[in-house]
Amino acid sequence: MTVTQQAPAVEIDKVAVRFRGKKREVLALEDVTVDVRPGEFVSIVGPSGCGKSTLLKLVSGLLKPSAGAVRLLGGSVDGPRHDVGFVFQRAALLEWRTARRNILLQAEMRGMPEREAAQRAGELIEMTGLTGFEDALPHELSGGMQQRVALCRALLHRPPVLLMDEPFGALDALTREQMNVELHRIWRETGTTVLLVTHSIAEAVYLSNRVVVMTPRPGTIAEVIDVDLADERDYAATMSLPGFATATGRVRELLGAAGGHE
Ligand SMILES: Nc1ncnc2c1ncn2[C@@H]1O[C@H](COP(=O)(O)OP(=O)(O)OP(=O)(O)O)[C@@H](O)[C@H]1O
Ligand SMILES: [Mg+2]
Repeated sequence: MTVTQQAPAVEIDKVAVRFRGKKREVLALEDVTVDVRPGEFVSIVGPSGCGKSTLLKLVSGLLKPSAGAVRLLGGSVDGPRHDVGFVFQRAALLEWRTARRNILLQAEMRGMPEREAAQRAGELIEMTGLTGFEDALPHELSGGMQQRVALCRALLHRPPVLLMDEPFGALDALTREQMNVELHRIWRETGTTVLLVTHSIAEAVYLSNRVVVMTPRPGTIAEVIDVDLADERDYAATMSLPGFATATGRVRELLGAAGGHE
């Protein structure tokens, strides 16, 4: 490490997670070490049940490791963290609240000053192309639009770290591609550090600086792949670049070797 390098935004250090139930004990994660640099986009792929969601829960402080340590922005994670944004597979919007008021829920929960929250919500609505739908209720929005609302809500308080757990898993292929392009642009514009869990190899490679490939349970790191692509990425053009083919090929190889799907 050179002296000019900043401390990692996220440090996962030799972490293990063991769930103890009445009937069974599950070793979900074992010896997992990952560092995410500030502003970096890192994706996590791996077979179902290998501990990807568990890993995000550790970073957000919703779960404590059984061994090892997790640090966020240089400080140890000892409880639920309010300086991260979290986007789930389902948008989880309140049905009786408009798009804007769903986004502002974040501000209400955090006691953010109203004017600042309203201004930021306006910016995000514009950035995600929701202009004109601020007053629509969730059932009046498409699946992609609902995920955009969830993304706005997660970004409202300008979290330095954004955690996303299969955020586009429920969308059709075309909408998913559009959301990938938008997320990539938003990542570049905001400079937020992103840790994304996905089952799509193309999504992982298109969006990321690095892709973490995990083994089946107990989840360990099979390999961390550097994606050799420029930050500015046109979707269609990127798909035909050698850097894209190399990275997706390697991820596929590792997942195949690990017995994973896709
Ligand atoms: N709260 C819990 N109590 C007991 N076991 C749990 C708990 N949460 C997760 N597990 C177990 O830990 C393992 C990893 O779960 P996790 O949800 O992290 O997997 P995942 O990689 O996100 O899977 P998927 O791709 O299907 O979402 C699984 O075997 C699961 O049954
Ligand atoms: Mg999961």
